[in-house]
Amino acid sequence: MLTDRFERVHDYLRISLTDTCNLRCVYCMPDEKIKCMPSSQLMTVDEIDQLGRIFVNNGVRKIRLTGGEPLARKDAGEIIERLSTYPVELTMTTNGVLADQYLDLFLKVGIRSLNVSLDTLNPESFFALTKRDHWHKVWRNIHLMLESGLHVKTNTVVMKGVNEQEIVDFVALTKDLPIHVRFIEFMPFQGNLWEHAQVFPASQMLELIGEKFSFIKLLDAKNDTAKKFKVLNHEGTFAIISTMSSHFCAGCNRMRLTADGKMKNCLFSRSEVDLLGALRSGQEIEPLIQLCLDQKEKALGGQFLQDYEKIDASLLQNRSMIAIGG
Ligand code: 5AD
Ligand code: SF4
Repeated sequence: MLTDRFERVHDYLRISLTDTCNLRCVYCMPDEKIKCMPSSQLMTVDEIDQLGRIFVNNGVRKIRLTGGEPLARKDAGEIIERLSTYPVELTMTTNGVLADQYLDLFLKVGIRSLNVSLDTLNPESFFALTKRDHWHKVWRNIHLMLESGLHVKTNTVVMKGVNEQEIVDFVALTKDLPIHVRFIEFMPFQGNLWEHAQVFPASQMLELIGEKFSFIKLLDAKNDTAKKFKVLNHEGTFAIISTMSSHFCAGCNRMRLTADGKMKNCLFSRSEVDLLGALRSGQEIEPLIQLCLDQKEKALGGQFLQDYEKIDASLLQNRSMIAIGG
């Protein structure tokens, strides 16, 4: 079992497959000319398999593949096939653009649930937010996934003055679709021009939703980051991820592996431990995983424990979101 100083058991690993993407979401990679990692620096399929197995042998029970966009990696299919043989719940966060090409594989290997990023229901706003004209493709793919029986959660990063008016439209979707829409407070990362004034806090989200719908609170699992709700008689649910206004670090069970094989103990950790370098030079990996966990801070990487209104984003030490993997 992988445990940290606060007795949190870590049984959930998020593996980033690539730091490239076929979209350019403003809050994730605002600079068009952003440099991506040379492929020699990325974990190969075999290396992902070797590192993944070590985590599973130490108690990991859930693996999420992330990116960039995980499906933008040419050998994504092979990686999915390999990891699907582990005794874990395998899942993925994708922007959905290429999901139709992988649907048969998802079903074949037993993937049951996927998270799809979708910040707007309006094709023009989608273009403004992602610099790519793929809204219709994503929308169609979400429907394909639902029709094939997959459990689909959407992730919407809510930014004040950008898309908070669409929150109720997303909740309205849950009336006839068995979809689980999630609203995420805008978080600061390297280069994403975060300002506290752009955060639309959970309390205001609930107020907006309450003006239109009457909803109930659903029970959350111990390690859930999302607080779940349901409008009565709706097929789907909605949830809020309130990282900025009210963190949920006490129940954290997550570890991350970046596409270049560095382990991060938190989305906001300053430090990283180079597992890939160690693997390539024949060192033992298990002690390094524990070393990384021993450095885990109580909350938010120890980086912003004050009110989010007081955060100076320029002082944060971290990677960009695209290079962490979400
Ligand atoms: N704040 C909040 N969520 C973000 N994501 C990416 N960048 C940010 C940010 N700055 C979310 C996206 C994606 C997931 C991987 O992370 O919604 O679905
Ligand atoms: Fe790509 Fe997701 Fe980042 Fe958007 S948020 S640029 S879809 S990795």
